[in-house]
Amino acid sequence: MGIKWVFMIMVVISVVSVNVEAKEKLCTSTNKWECKNSIYCCNQTISDFFQSYQFENLFSKRNAPTAQAVGFYDYQSFITASIDFQRLGFGTTGGKKMQMKEVAAFLGHVGAKSSCGYGVATGGPLAWGLCYKREMSPSQSYCRDGYLYPCAPGAEYYGRGALPVYWNFNYGAIGDGIKVDLLNHPEYLEQNATIAFQAAMWKWMTPIKKNQPSPHQAFVGDWKPTKNDTLAKRLPGFGTTMNILYGDQICGQGDIDDMNVIVSHYRYYLDLMGVGAADAATDNDNLSCAEQQAFNPTKTEKDASS
Ligand SMILES: *[C@@H]1O[C@H](CO)[C@@H](O)[C@H](O)[C@H]1NC(C)=O
Ligand SMILES: *[C@@H]1O[C@H](CO)[C@@H](O)[C@H](O)[C@H]1NC(C)=O
Ligand SMILES: *[C@@H]1O[C@H](CO)[C@@H](O)[C@H](O)[C@H]1NC(C)=O
Ligand SMILES: *[C@@H]1O[C@H](CO)[C@@H](O)[C@H](O)[C@H]1NC(C)=O
Repeated sequence: MGIKWVFMIMVVISVVSVNVEAKEKLCTSTNKWECKNSIYCCNQTISDFFQSYQFENLFSKRNAPTAQAVGFYDYQSFITASIDFQRLGFGTTGGKKMQMKEVAAFLGHVGAKSSCGYGVATGGPLAWGLCYKREMSPSQSYCRDGYLYPCAPGAEYYGRGALPVYWNFNYGAIGDGIKVDLLNHPEYLEQNATIAFQAAMWKWMTPIKKNQPSPHQAFVGDWKPTKNDTLAKRLPGFGTTMNILYGDQICGQGDIDDMNVIVSHYRYYLDLMGVGAADAATDNDNLSCAEQQAFNPTKTEKDASS
């Protein structure tokens, strides 16, 4: 009887250990991070469905001689920057189609904000994303003291990066977020493309206020609108990502060009990635924020009426 028990226990132990081994192998072979630490560990990663040639396709004019950021941005810096954010769900949430759409949506913002393509540019105005890495001829140094992040002596906080960052307090907060001292070294954002993409991804993954969604959450459906959100016409989807990132500069103004150019970049990239721009529109994608009230209005109602 004693021997029987020992035998049974050994069988149980060996079955358990085989299972653990098999599971770990399955996950680590296709992934770039430790499986145990992420709920996304067994899912495809961005480089599984978005490769270097696709990046070149999306940003085909970025190294034209007239581009300001010539030679700066590349695929590898995008992928390197994304590693830490993929663990948190960036481009790894919801299955392949949603993953591709999220990458297109993020890059749609980046492309629109870093574009030097205008109406008659060769290749069409949408082919000129990632052409800028910094604001040209800034009119001020964007330093406002009295905040948590006092300006470093002589530093200028004009727009820099893949999704331009302005003001000392934003450089400070994003620097804390990505663990790079951007407050004392704002120039890193125009010297290192990995850091430029990391800062942009941090904005995509981080809510502005605690009870508000991040653009990532609003886009992948990891956000339930409150009653107030519904009244303010804020729906899950691409439109709300613009609301979070730009507020009433872009949203709640009707069908303005500044909004449409961002939506157009998103749809252009969907098309090039083979997800299908037309598909996205009919998928009930809530592309627009033309009628949305801003989460964080720049003017209070009192200011507006006075
Ligand atoms: C992982 O991928 C599966 C299948 O594509 C998807 O259904 C699931 O939502 C993903 N997991 C997470 C946490 O997003
Ligand atoms: C760019 O920044 C990344 C992330 O901080 C760092 O690992 C890398 O060494 C930097 N590259 C250069 C050339 O300084
Ligand atoms: C909803 O909006 C009202 C009026 O603007 C405001 O007083 C209230 O605090 C909001 N509720 C939430 C949960 O944000
Ligand atoms: C668009 O909003 C509706 C709710 O009005 C929602 O059911 C739908 O899932 C949203 N679409 C996306 C792509 O999130």
